[in-house]
Amino acid sequence: MGIKGRVVQDVEIIDIANKGMSLGKSAEGKIFLVEKVVPGDVVDIKLIKKKKGIAFGTPIKTHSLSQHREKPFCDHFGLCGGCKWQHMQYASQLQFKQKLVKDAFQRIAKVEVEEYQPIIACDQSHFYRNKLEYTFAAKRWLTKEEIDRETTFERRGLGFHIPGFFDKVVDINKCYLLDDKHNEYRNAVRDFTIENEYEYFNQTNHQGLLRNLMIRMTDFGEKMLLFIFFKNDEQKIQKLLNWFQEKFPEVDSIMYVVNQKRNDSYYDQDVHLFKGKPFIVEELLGNKFKIGPKSFFQTNTRQASQLFSVTKEFAELDGKTKLFDLYTGVGSIAISMADQCESILGIEEVEEAIINAEANAAMNDISNTKFITGDVLEFFDESLFEKYFKPDVLVTDPPRVGMHPKVVARLLELEIPTMVYVSCNPSTQARDLALLSEKYKVCKSRAVDMFPYTSHVENVVQLKLKS
Ligand SMILES: C[S@@+](CC[C@H](N)C(=O)[O-])C[C@H]1O[C@@H](n2cnc3c(N)ncnc32)[C@H](O)[C@@H]1O
Repeated sequence: MGIKGRVVQDVEIIDIANKGMSLGKSAEGKIFLVEKVVPGDVVDIKLIKKKKGIAFGTPIKTHSLSQHREKPFCDHFGLCGGCKWQHMQYASQLQFKQKLVKDAFQRIAKVEVEEYQPIIACDQSHFYRNKLEYTFAAKRWLTKEEIDRETTFERRGLGFHIPGFFDKVVDINKCYLLDDKHNEYRNAVRDFTIENEYEYFNQTNHQGLLRNLMIRMTDFGEKMLLFIFFKNDEQKIQKLLNWFQEKFPEVDSIMYVVNQKRNDSYYDQDVHLFKGKPFIVEELLGNKFKIGPKSFFQTNTRQASQLFSVTKEFAELDGKTKLFDLYTGVGSIAISMADQCESILGIEEVEEAIINAEANAAMNDISNTKFITGDVLEFFDESLFEKYFKPDVLVTDPPRVGMHPKVVARLLELEIPTMVYVSCNPSTQARDLALLSEKYKVCKSRAVDMFPYTSHVENVVQLKLKS
């Protein structure tokens, strides 16, 4: 018989776990992964599923609440998968994030770190992001209260996917992650498209017109909207974009994509410029950056300044430093380091990002950087030393999956004296450090909180070649 539906009483929540979950322990000493709780709570749970030998539960009755708790501020909390730690005090979030990094390094990867520096807090806990991506869905989530209250429903929704439901979104009225003005844009688009009978995308039968909406707003004050459609219904597309442009003339860049693939990724699709310019500008540590619709850019600009300042400090630049910046994106790390380096080479696989990186360097009158497009796995090897220069410092900032084992093996072969590893995922960073510790000592580690009210943490590590 399956475990689904079984109730376990008096589960004490003892620690945080991955993906916003927590670890719970029953009176018999059994361990569970529990959602929507905080360490210190004591709850009865109902089991949902079992995966890799561990049972997952959801709380159904609370016996006592943790001292780490606080009241969530967002109406969508609990349903939306976004800010899962809104019920936890900010000081506790920082404490647990720091612990997440230490546990990954010490307990899982068994990596010795000479110095853990204190986590850098984010002084802006609301509206701190510069980009959000919404989904239009033919089927939004209906709450129990709505079903009890109403007899007919508008099923279309524009919002965020609900964890575990590929085809349903929670319809968002107000999101605290991106400047409040963006709530006006999103709600107006939803009202207009519903009034005008636009079809929202149905993930089950792959039908519909409207698919996704990306909104970017920079601290520099610029705004970009990217509409992603499924059908190429030129008349309806033009009607919506014309209406939007007239209603919100302050938006600097309005673009669209027709994505007829089965998956939502538009990175391999053509972007059409409807109005304004094909990029917007952000400022970070005194440098300006062009950001296109497909470019990766750190999503919390102000905290990215902190992150890059730590990265720069750990790189110990001396004005003559020759530096490689792997996974450079639009060159933001390279550019922020250029004033204290002799030469920098940035490598990135997205061509548009590299075009922007070159433009960014030029816009900031920087002439000692060079950027190349290519997969680090294929392009990063000793031949770059002959073609460009041999680096004394290497910065690596890979995506969440971390570095490919072959890239780590190459780093071990190349023996670059100092490396700085920036990561948004302590588990994969710990895995890579365990391999690198064959030849490198891990001198310093410092976490930076880029994403308050979520369990995500960014971490910077300094490595030195063992003598
Ligand atoms: C975490 S981002 C870092 C970007 C940049 N350092 C910054 O802070 O803005 C990772 C970047 O790596 C790029 N990327 C992912 N896999 C790659 C690969 N195999 N080779 C080269 N670039 C890659 C992504 O496109 C993305 O721009």
